[in-house]
Amino acid sequence: MALLEANNITIRFGGITAVNNASLKVEKGSITSLIGPNGAGKTTMFNCISGVYTPNEGEILFNGKRIDGKRCFQICAGGISRTYQIINLFWKMTALENVMVGFHPRIKSSILHSLLGTRKQVQEEIELRQRAMEYLKFVGIEDTWNMISKNLSYGQQRLLEIARGLASEPEIILLDEPVAGMNTAEKAEFNKLLRRIVDKGVTVLMIEHDMNVIMGVSDYVYVLENGVMIANGKPEDVQKDPAVIKAYLGGDE
Ligand SMILES: Nc1ncnc2c1ncn2[C@@H]1O[C@H](COP(=O)(O)OP(=O)(O)OP(=O)(O)O)[C@@H](O)[C@H]1O
Ligand SMILES: [Mg+2]
Repeated sequence: MALLEANNITIRFGGITAVNNASLKVEKGSITSLIGPNGAGKTTMFNCISGVYTPNEGEILFNGKRIDGKRCFQICAGGISRTYQIINLFWKMTALENVMVGFHPRIKSSILHSLLGTRKQVQEEIELRQRAMEYLKFVGIEDTWNMISKNLSYGQQRLLEIARGLASEPEIILLDEPVAGMNTAEKAEFNKLLRRIVDKGVTVLMIEHDMNVIMGVSDYVYVLENGVMIANGKPEDVQKDPAVIKAYLGGDE
């Protein structure tokens, strides 16, 4: 059984069919990528999986159980976390506080208790801060812990979103164009981070335009074009697929 399965997903907005009978499977422990030209429906697919939208048709299974129609917070608490194409941080909060917001509801409730201020609860808050710090270290931006998130570089903000996404201790994390805006050095580090995420036991489903990243790290690739899944396979096979070449170059090879 795949960890995540989207079967025959269709979603329409008015006259537009953003995703049209598209399916994908993500195996546990893999890095699976979703690629395709602008407007293909990739982010919309993520929005269906993460509960932002309920598809008009089709079903989404996580560990074999239906999740389509559930709310975002339920899906997140159930083990699916995500980042956003348009970075979505709490801009006035520090990097560390942004990670703390990402903690699983069960952990957050103990933060609330800590506001009551007994000595034990103060101790708990210190532990939570240390724990949040571990996530910042994991993505390599611990130096920014006390900075207001809007003052971080673009690449650091992307990494902070990933740290916050991991703080909910998901089984899978969905990354929507994680390297957009990163420089070459940051991209090289990002490839290593992806490996560390998988080694930690978190499966990755990623939307990305950067072909070097996609081809270098993906175990499996899906290609959407105009809402339709036109190809899927190992990166080296997808790269050679004439339909994929045509979708990207807009002509015959
Ligand atoms: N809430 C919405 N209302 C209306 N149309 C929408 C909505 N969300 C997405 N769409 C449309 O669905 C189509 C797919 O958009 P989507 O953002 O999923 O593409 P994408 O593959 O992520 O593209 P990009 O690579 O540019 O991020 C587009 O035509 C878009 O305008
Ligand atoms: Mg998108």
